[in-house]
Amino acid sequence: MILNVGSINIDLVYRVPHLVRPGETLAATEFSRGLGGKGANQSVAAARAGAQVRHCGAIGADGADMVAGMEAAGVDCGLVARLDMPTGHAIVMVDGAGENAIVLAPSANQALPEAEAIRAVGTLGADDWLILQNEVNVSALAAKAARKAGARVVYSAAPFDAGAVAEVMADITHLLVNEGENAALEEAGIDLPVGLIRVVTKGSDGATWIGPEGEVSHPAFPVSKVVDTTGAGDCFAGNLVAALDRGAGPEAAMRFAQAAAAIQITRPGAAPAMPGRTETEAFLAAR
Ligand code: RIB
Repeated sequence: MILNVGSINIDLVYRVPHLVRPGETLAATEFSRGLGGKGANQSVAAARAGAQVRHCGAIGADGADMVAGMEAAGVDCGLVARLDMPTGHAIVMVDGAGENAIVLAPSANQALPEAEAIRAVGTLGADDWLILQNEVNVSALAAKAARKAGARVVYSAAPFDAGAVAEVMADITHLLVNEGENAALEEAGIDLPVGLIRVVTKGSDGATWIGPEGEVSHPAFPVSKVVDTTGAGDCFAGNLVAALDRGAGPEAAMRFAQAAAAIQITRPGAAPAMPGRTETEAFLAAR
């Protein structure tokens, strides 16, 4: 089982001719509202990839349809708290090349009750996984409690914050970073615990798994048209853990996660663009 203690956002997505510059006012060519948040994206990705996923997070009354979207993807949202404040949202600009720039309003994501997170993590055992990102207020205490329960703890250091990363580092088993986050991690001089598995994603250059037994790399799959890269890292993370959870080794898990991310970036949106396991397997079978 995978438990995700993570964010749930309403993504307000603006397609723009280019990412807005300082002082510029720019008209969007399209606007849409959809499910996002690094936490929710990873939960949806893992559930669609076939894993059993429970999500612990927080929303306000305006986020009910976001949770409905997660449940429709197969995520158990029984641990999502309903708070008397707005749901987190993200303003997402996406340009013609599919690149994005994002502004976050954390709201309920930063008010997750500690007791709820502890209660959720209390359900974990040694066969389970906790997945965390950097958009909620309880990551460090959730990681500590999960390690005490013997669960594996996978942490995406995104959005990167050196203080938050340092706080959680001793209690994680797997660290997921992109190249920029990896460079920031090295620059911050944060000590990595012995035995930590680090997975570095490098966009079109693929991904590398660095663990006590050495390094394994897997190339990215070429894509004819990139539509929207929002949530691609979350897609990779959710699919990677789903594959590991069903017993895949590092190389097979990265291959599966790379394939899912290659599909995801050809579609608009974050969580709504996550592929299902059958689709990802068909993509791989065609290669
Ligand atoms: O990783 C992409 C996500 O970052 C978006 O869905 C947005 O909500 C922000 O959390």
